[in-house]
This record gives sequence, structure tokens and C-alpha cells, in this order.
Amino acid sequence: MNIHGQPHRSIEADHARRIARIVDQTFLPHQVAWRELETMEDAAEAIQVMRVRGAPLIGATAAFGLFFALRDDASDAALQHAYDTLHATRPTAINLRWALDRVRRVVLPLVAEKRAEAAWSEALSICDEDVQTNHAIGQHALELFQAIQAKKADPSAPLNVMTHCNAGWIACVDWGTAISPIYQAHDAGMNIHVWVSETRPRGQGASLTAWELREHGVPHTLIVDNNAGHLLQRGLVDAVIVGTDRVTAQGDVANKIGTYLKALAAKAHGVPFYVACPVSTIDWTITDGIRDIPIEQRSAREVTHMPGLNAEGLREEVLITPAGTQARNDGFDVTPAALVTALVTEHGVFEANAMALAKLKAQIGSDH
Ligand code: MRU
Repeated sequence: MNIHGQPHRSIEADHARRIARIVDQTFLPHQVAWRELETMEDAAEAIQVMRVRGAPLIGATAAFGLFFALRDDASDAALQHAYDTLHATRPTAINLRWALDRVRRVVLPLVAEKRAEAAWSEALSICDEDVQTNHAIGQHALELFQAIQAKKADPSAPLNVMTHCNAGWIACVDWGTAISPIYQAHDAGMNIHVWVSETRPRGQGASLTAWELREHGVPHTLIVDNNAGHLLQRGLVDAVIVGTDRVTAQGDVANKIGTYLKALAAKAHGVPFYVACPVSTIDWTITDGIRDIPIEQRSAREVTHMPGLNAEGLREEVLITPAGTQARNDGFDVTPAALVTALVTEHGVFEANAMALAKLKAQIGSDH
């Protein structure tokens, strides 16, 4: 996608130097800072402190992390240590385990001398496939948008789509999942407008989705998270679409905290609630999302303090609560399958229930 009009991916491989470059998201939207990842520790740190975030990009970064580890030491013990270190960085997004398992499956049967190169190739494949996957998700969701648009009383009026957090290209390698159909609709000339919810406490909507959409020229309006119900109630939202960090085999969806409330409000007002879901985000080993999906607990400081640019243009963090206020910071919540209108995958649109997902599993085979 575009940064200042130039095409980029959020993670780019430097083949000659065998390193990866990322956009350090902790500097966005105020600065586009590229950062080089050269070691397994660099990759783990980037995921942990959210220089990279978003389920697919976490997975892609971890894959490069395994390559870095194997380049230095290709033993089974080093592989296991790197796997465990990278896996421990963030708990909720299943793409992390998916990518680590995928690279490990490829390298384990190989002799030590061949492992690093195989890991590098697999990391590149994960990146390339992510781009194709997200483009396909966008195509399928675009058809859903077109059908909604066609049914509007005034089909020339903008299609108002609400999203939460950031499931755009900066959360993936390119395109994004939930934002992919928005880009494709805009590029195809559809009159589309996006309600971007701020996403307290880290502000991924305000700082990342709003930034991406502006770079691409897509009309959008930022709202505080608590405005969602009000807009849905007033008929100002035609569809909600979000990304996900983990979907269970019965279609329960974990996504950024606040997603569940949007799904409830969408259901109450008869507005479709779509989840853009690459197959790599489905955890086939669990069914009950509320019981089985680990929810990341984050620092209270993200709730009690607010970062931003001060009048001199310098980054600053300010306290917004009485000193010493106790705060709780759940990173994600679970939306039960019954509130999800459909899961939009790269293989098409599926109902969020065990039977539909079993059909998807049979269609894609046992590799996933
Ligand atoms: O904590 P984050 O910013 O990594 O959370 C990201 C999300 O919740 C996204 O919606 C999800 O990972 C899907 S990204 C395509």
C-alpha cells in the first residue's frame, strides 16, 4: 500500500543482507520510521512492544525471527528456544503459533546446514501468501458491500462502514483484512465512507486506521469508541467489519477490546457484523471462545496515561487520572458466534457456526 504515494509492505525482506525491515508502528501516525530486524531477539522485541502488531503481521515477523535464530544456530535446541521465546511475546493472536508451527514443520526434517535457508524461504512465502489472502478477502467482502449498497434507498449515497482497531495493511503484510474491501471499493469508484473508532487505550483506530485511510484517500471520520451505539441506532451505519486475532471452530471471535459491544449494538439494530478472517486465524483446537481464548492483560499505564505530540511537536505522555488510580486493561474480548453475520475468508464467505466451519476445513484440507 501507499506511504506518501510510494508502494510498500509493512514488512520487507532485504534478500542481500538477509534482514527484515518494518515500519515501527510506535511512531505512527506522526513519523514513518523504518527499523531493521536482524536477530531473533529483535523480532521478539518488536512483537512484544508492538512495533509490529495485528495478527497476520505478528505471524510474519515471528517467521523471520525463526530464520534469524537458525542462521546463528540450527540445532534442535536453538529452534525450540527461539520457538518458545517468540511464542511467549503475545498470547491472543493465533497467527503467531500458526506461523511458528509452519516454519518449524518445514525445517525440522532437514539437516542443520539447510534449515536457515528453508526458514527464510518459508518466511517469504508467508508474506507473499498473506498479500494474496488479504486481496481475496477484500474481493469477497466487496461483494457483500455491493449488495448492501444496491439495496439502499439512495444507492448513490455513501456506504457507511464502521470498523474497530486496525485491521488494515499495517496489521498485515499488505491490504489488511477488514480494510482490504474498503480499499478495493474505493479503488473501484464506490462511494464509501468509514467510521473509524478510536480504540482506547492504545488508539489503533485513531493513530493507524485513520493514517492508512488518509494515505489512500478514503473518506473517513474518527469517532470515540462510545459513539458506536449511537450511530448504529440512528441508521448511520450500513455494515460493521472488523478483523480478528483468533476464531474458534464454532465461530467465536476474539478481537480488540470493544469489538463485542459493537457486535451487540449491530445485532440490536439489524446491521450486518462481518469478521474478516484469514484461515490462519482459525484455531481448530478450541470451540468455546469465552472459555478457551487467552486474553492479553496489558499494563494499567496504557489506561491511566495518554500519549501524543505536545505543542513543540515532541512525543509526550500525560496522566489523565488521579495519581495512583487502579486500572484494568484487557487487550481483547470475545464476540460469540451468534452475533457474527458472517466470516469472510480468502476461500469465501462462511456462517459463523461449527457446521459451516467444518465444511471450510474439509475444503482446505489438513495442512491448516
Ligand atoms: O493489539 P493489536 O493492535 O495487535 O490488536 C489488533 C487487532 O485486534 C486486529 O483487529 C486483529 O489483529 C486483526 S489484524 C488483521
